[in-house]
Amino acid sequence: MNDTNRVMQSYGRCCASPRFFDDFYATFLASSPAIREKFARTDMTAQKQLLRAGILNLVLFARGMPDTKLRALGQSHSRAQLDIHPELYDLWIDALLETIGQHDEDLQQADLQAWRAVLNKGIDVIKAAY
Ligand code: HEM
Repeated sequence: MNDTNRVMQSYGRCCASPRFFDDFYATFLASSPAIREKFARTDMTAQKQLLRAGILNLVLFARGMPDTKLRALGQSHSRAQLDIHPELYDLWIDALLETIGQHDEDLQQADLQAWRAVLNKGIDVIKAAY
């Protein structure tokens, strides 16, 4: 199976797990004070819905969709706006892969490698706009 199909199936299993996004943000916020500071004034219920779509956009880009949505995310996360330093995406990926490991009960090693490749492809576009 190719990377994006593996990731779509794994993401479907994760989204069917009710606490997936709660656990992702708990892990991500715990990973650094710099990240907690960024989300100090955020409505996290709304943020979880935004991330659900955000991850889907990363996957769709890896499947060949144009980079329009990711370039817009790159703008909002850039130095001039949210000012999300490129190094923070490593913590984001680590937190996401850890959470996937907790919620995807059919996860195989090859799925994790596929996730990493798919995420990095889109995150490169976002970081390039920093
Ligand atoms: C807002 C997605 C990485 C911090 C958002 C929004 C989306 C999103 C969809 C809603 C607003 C918008 O569209 O710009 C993503 C995705 C990421 C990512 C897909 C990974 C590729 C990060 C990282 C940080 C971060 C690494 C570091 C702390 C924020 C903050 C907001 C935000 C602070 C605004 C929250 C508020 O409204 O108070 N993100 N994000 N994001 N993101 Fe990200």
